[in-house]
Amino acid sequence: MADPTTGTSSGKATFSLGIAGDDLRREERPLPEGEPPPWPANSDLAVVGKPTARIDASAKVTGQARFTCDVRLRGMLHARRIVSSVPHARVLAIDTSRAERVPGVKAIHLIERALEGPVVRDPSAEAGRYPLVRYVGQPLGAVAALTQEAADEAARLVEVSYEPLPFTVDMDEAMKPEAPLVYPGPVDQRATAGGGGAATGLPQSGNVRGPALVKRGDVSRGFEEAEVIVEGTFTTQTQVHSAAETHGVVAHLDDGFLTVYASTQGTAGVRDDLAVLFGLPKERVRVVTEYVGGGFGAKFGAGSYGVLATELSKKTGSPVRLVLDRTEEQISTGNRPGTRQRLKIGARRDGTLTAIELESFGTAGIGTGAGVGFGAERMYVCPNFSGAQSDVFIHAGPGAAFRAPGMPQSTFALEQLVDELAERLGLDPLALRDRIDLREDMAGHAHRVERRVGAERFGWSRRRPPGADPGAVKRGLGVAQALWPHIIRPANCEVSVSRAGEVEVRSGVQDVGTGTRTALALVVAEELSLRPEEVRVRIGDTAFPDGPQSGGSNVTGSLTPAARNAAAAVGRELMARAARKLHASPEELALSGGAVVARGDPARRLPFREAAALLPKGGFSARAQRSENYGFSGQDWRGAMGGVQFAEVSVDVETGMVRVARIVAVHDCGRPINPLALENQVAGGILQGISYALFEERLLDRATGCVVNPDLDGYKILGARETPQIEVVLLEDYHGTSSTDARGIAEPANIATAAAIANAFYNATGVRIRELPMNPPRVLAALAEAGRN
Ligand code: MOS
Repeated sequence: MADPTTGTSSGKATFSLGIAGDDLRREERPLPEGEPPPWPANSDLAVVGKPTARIDASAKVTGQARFTCDVRLRGMLHARRIVSSVPHARVLAIDTSRAERVPGVKAIHLIERALEGPVVRDPSAEAGRYPLVRYVGQPLGAVAALTQEAADEAARLVEVSYEPLPFTVDMDEAMKPEAPLVYPGPVDQRATAGGGGAATGLPQSGNVRGPALVKRGDVSRGFEEAEVIVEGTFTTQTQVHSAAETHGVVAHLDDGFLTVYASTQGTAGVRDDLAVLFGLPKERVRVVTEYVGGGFGAKFGAGSYGVLATELSKKTGSPVRLVLDRTEEQISTGNRPGTRQRLKIGARRDGTLTAIELESFGTAGIGTGAGVGFGAERMYVCPNFSGAQSDVFIHAGPGAAFRAPGMPQSTFALEQLVDELAERLGLDPLALRDRIDLREDMAGHAHRVERRVGAERFGWSRRRPPGADPGAVKRGLGVAQALWPHIIRPANCEVSVSRAGEVEVRSGVQDVGTGTRTALALVVAEELSLRPEEVRVRIGDTAFPDGPQSGGSNVTGSLTPAARNAAAAVGRELMARAARKLHASPEELALSGGAVVARGDPARRLPFREAAALLPKGGFSARAQRSENYGFSGQDWRGAMGGVQFAEVSVDVETGMVRVARIVAVHDCGRPINPLALENQVAGGILQGISYALFEERLLDRATGCVVNPDLDGYKILGARETPQIEVVLLEDYHGTSSTDARGIAEPANIATAAAIANAFYNATGVRIRELPMNPPRVLAALAEAGRN
């Protein structure tokens, strides 16, 4: 198996460590019991690390791939949710008589307790049959009918009587003592949005929950020791996820067995939620997710749509399809919370950081976790840090986790202030970072190389002083970096080989579009010395061993080691079977070139199929589970991931238009499994980051509480015309963390883009922009304030 030269001896093995092309070296290290020997660097592997087109590419482009929204079952009903039309009210009565008369309507289900939003400690606040309405678009129930049109019409015809209550959709207004309260008592639950302030048991005063405090050292003394202080207030908007496929399910509760097709980032999580809510044993709930049209943090758990579809199926006995329309999606399924943060950094003349102080307020609507993450706390080593992050409740849809929760917000502020600090100290921004980026974790090591490699590729030496262009259109260059923890989750995988030599990988894991199927095929093919197309990958079904949820950039790093370990067990079995036939001991054998071969005597070989034919009738299968990282816990910051992005922009100071011309992104993800998919994913993170930086913004109407742009017409996301030249450079950054040494990339790819663009904006114009998105009104306002137009 693997490279015959990296065999194990007395529990030790030779690892390739460091960055390929930079400081790669080989080192003896202990190898955990039962794990296959480490792979060498990608250049010495056959299929892992080779850019590979997705194995499901043709299924996707030909429309054969079945997404949840494509699922059509016999006798299936169509559903639409009934949603509130007011932002804050008691529901007095719900009259469904007109809706029931719509031809084709089969069932109506009304929610009789809140399905969404944090748990309120004071139960009297929720007195009454129906949940209190806390935002426009809150689900109150759903209708199932023979056609989607009938369901839509009936949902509209449900008449809800409200007792309106005062409301606020403005964060500043909500912070005032006299503001209408979103919750009457303390709210206690884990964050919906996950961006800091996530702890339970936080103080709450009015609509302000927090602060969540982090303290290190003594910031007052740190600022006294500072020779230069930079500070600013930075504001970021509410961003909506805008996945291509909206949230949805097809649910069928039949004879005590629930089958749910779900557009989800976690098949097992949907199963577990529905099992609890409907009082079913887990074994009687099956969740299937063949393909997902994107999930960026908001597609966890059963969701109101999942529960409502199941309720309607329970009432009708039929499968029920409930797929949200784009407007429901934009209003009620989550968002990246809007924030305002004050950040202050103190440093000595040589750049040494002496203090960092952060205060943030953010709003996740009726949800929690609107903090700005850990950028200020962790990106640079500073002995004195103080962070205070608070959530502010408003009468708007709940925030949700969104690709690196809190971090694009955090980084927008931090990396601009670091840029400002560099200017004040007369240092190049990269030179200052070389001095202050002193983390000794994996990201710290990678960052140093990424800055150097990126600067060269980008042509950083072309950078001129701020505002150097004389005309109306000014060009500028900027840089910012990203930090993200290495998270691993429990991940199970099964690999089997039949007597006919067919290899199959099975895991409940879903592929949210990142290429999980292909990564699994590559890893198992490598281990068994097959071609990727010889490995069948079956995923997205809770009938298989539980895979990890797709969140926290964990899937490849969690699941590929389990897949490799299971494949290694299959390989050992094949070699044991082949040993007799080849007159060798199993230890003398290896899998190579699609055959079992004797090491040192390649003429003695047994093709894979012939080895498989020696298996018992049922073939052989092995299961493996992700173990801890070699030598440290998976949740540990030592495994942190980095990335550095460079942006070239132009700013038209007459129109306020910002255009991004080029992004160079250098990222690390441990061992790249499929560089093609990884580059693709980094490019996606950059596009989402540009879109966040320049265009996206959910707008609430203060008079009605409505979202005024709840569709992809009024809510602008980046399109082809705004897509710049993107160059992705991947480091091969080996640390020997697991049997594949893969880590993640999804979230780091999205963190630095807006900050890099903001720094390039400054370099172009000589004016700081501290508010997102950088659209013409804000750009013109920032320029006017600075007296530049
Ligand atoms: Mo993510 S924001 O953990 O899907």
